[in-house]
Parts: sequence; structure tokens; C-alpha cells
Amino acid sequence: MKTPMVLANLGSKIMGLADGETAHRLTVRMLKAGFGPKRTISTPCLQMRVAGIDFPNPLGLAAGFDKNAEAYGASLDLGFGFVEIGAVTPRPQPGNDRPRVFRLRADAAIINRYGFNNDGLDIVAARLKASKCDGVIGANLGANKDSEDRTQDYVTGVKGLAGLVDFFTVNISSPNTPGLRALQGRDVLENLIRRVHAARDEYAADTPVFLKIAPDITDEDKADIAETAMKTALQGLIVSNTTIERPGTLQSECAHEAGGLSGAPLFAQSTALLREFYAEIGGEIPLIGVGGISSARDAYEKILAGASLVQLYTALVYQGPSLPYRILAGLQDFLKSDGLDKISDAVGAGAH
Ligand code: FNR
Repeated sequence: MKTPMVLANLGSKIMGLADGETAHRLTVRMLKAGFGPKRTISTPCLQMRVAGIDFPNPLGLAAGFDKNAEAYGASLDLGFGFVEIGAVTPRPQPGNDRPRVFRLRADAAIINRYGFNNDGLDIVAARLKASKCDGVIGANLGANKDSEDRTQDYVTGVKGLAGLVDFFTVNISSPNTPGLRALQGRDVLENLIRRVHAARDEYAADTPVFLKIAPDITDEDKADIAETAMKTALQGLIVSNTTIERPGTLQSECAHEAGGLSGAPLFAQSTALLREFYAEIGGEIPLIGVGGISSARDAYEKILAGASLVQLYTALVYQGPSLPYRILAGLQDFLKSDGLDKISDAVGAGAH
């Protein structure tokens, strides 16, 4: 079914409204009501098999857009090859006080400090159970702000969503839950992944577990993460979450708001980090590149740098619901002009 252009345009307008949080709520509601375009984009050259999952194409909707699993079917209908719902925490929580989302329009960026506001595991699990959607869905797992054992929260997340999603993402990289990023340290991280793997083995059969990291990490953190990922045989590394850095090039008034910065200004930093991880562990552990993708060229650059899959969020807000289609069409053009048969041939091809 083709949705009239007018609805797609309306969608773009709502997504671009000034008040970030209200615009976002409206967008999710519109998608849920079926007002988005409907396109499944899967040509043989775009299909990817990663961690035992068949992805119809390599472009995913990043975590945070559909925190509560309300509109992932409609998001897949925009053309995305997969959607990562969440972050979900065991118990529902309200997140930080408003305002907590800021549009940096001049910079094609967003700053958010939502702080894992979400409906909690039980409600999200019930929504997933009720859905008949058969696309690839991952769950981004978080920890409650007041949790006494944050590692246990990830274990609870795996148990609560077992059998309902195709992959889990252990998100220890949100800048908006104080202390969360400390879980990226070597011993803590190894213990966390081992406990999550044990829970997965017990409750969730062979559902792969990915880890999502922050871009603001030291060389020591990088070495620790790479070593731990190898040691625990992690099935995917998502590079990266939002940054707490503020590049000097930012022009928008609210550039100094606290929170995580996403969008165009994150592209170079997150792609450089992706490249570093590809050099270290690329042959062993699939990488998922996210951060500042706003065009087919950006997506292709991440793939050439070593990403087997890519994700985006911020550019969808500024460019509207036709973006996935445009990126996937553009990727096919890049493959053709580089004389490549399929997207997997491009992974890491520009890494050196
Ligand atoms: C996010 N992101 C995010 N990531 C995550 O792992 N769990 C989450 O709950 C959220 N929430 C969230 C909310 C908002 C408003 C934004 C803009 C982003 C980060 C997101 O998944 C992605 O890693 C970054 O936004 C970088 O990608 P883009 O936006 O530059 O394409």
C-alpha cells in the first residue's frame, strides 16, 4: 500500500517540530496509527547475515526512538532492516525532568538527557508478545537509576524478554544514568557479560548479545573492551552511543545543555572509533556502526570502515520517513559503482 505523499510530508513536519519530546511522541503515535510509508527493502545485494540472524538490509533504527516497543512494526515499514527497541529497564521509571531533549537544528544534531524513561519490562514484554510483526527486533537493555545491582538488571532484562526479540543489546553507555559508563571497565564488564550470557543460555536459547559502547573512552578502555569482547565471545559491538563531548563547531544556542550529543557532529568521532575496533577485533566480532549517519554516503563510509550493520536515529528526525529508502537505494548505487555484488563485500573494504 502506498501512503499519500501528503501524509509522508506531514510526518516530516511533525518530526521536525521545535519541542523535541512532543514531536517525538507525536511521531511514534502517527507511526503506530499506520501513517508511515510501507516499504520492505530487501534485495539480495543488501541482505546480511550477522550473529546468525538474517537481516533483509543492513540499516537499522537505533535504540531510543521506540523505547517502549509501540511502533516497531511501522518503523520496519519505513524500510529499516531491523529495529532496536528500548532502552528498557526492569522497573518503569520517569527519567529526568523536562526539558530533556534539545534540537540543535543548525548542527543537524540532538542533545538528550532522557535518563532511561520507559514503561518497564513487563509492559514492553506484553507489547512484544501481542505483536504479529516478523521483522528483526532487538532489545536495548538498561539498568534502573536506583538499582542496587545494575548487573542484575541486565540479567532481568534478558529473562523478561527471552523469546520475544532476535538480539539483546547491553547498553552501558548512556551518559544520562550516573555511574552507568563505569560498567565499561575491564573486570566489571567481563563479569557483566558472563552473567548476561549465563542468563541467555538459561532462558533465551541462542539469542545473540551485543554490547553498545560510548564514544568517549580512553585508549585503556578501548583495549579492555576489545580484550573482553574477544574473551567472552561477544556476538556484536555497537559503536557508538551519544557523546558527552561538545565539538567547537557547534552553532546552536542549546549546544551546552547537559546530555548526550547525537547526529552529524558525532559522525567523525564514532567512525574513527569503529575503524579502531575493526583493526583490533573486526575479523572476529561483527561491528554495528552508529553515529551521525544522514546519507547513503555516510552509511557506506561506516560499512567500508568495518561495520557489518549500521543504525541511525537523529537524521530521521530532520529528514523524515523517506530517509531509509533513500539510503538503501544509494547504498545499492555505491555497490554498483565500486563493482561489488553484495554489501558484505564492502565491509571493512576501506579500513586500511
Ligand atoms: C538515543 N540513544 C540511545 N541509545 C541507547 O542505547 N539507548 C537509549 O535509550 C537511547 N536513547 C536515545 C534517545 C534520543 C533522543 C537519542 C537522540 C538517542 C542513542 C542512539 O541509539 C544512537 O546511538 C545515537 O543517537 C547516535 O546515532 P545518530 O542519532 O547520530 O544517528
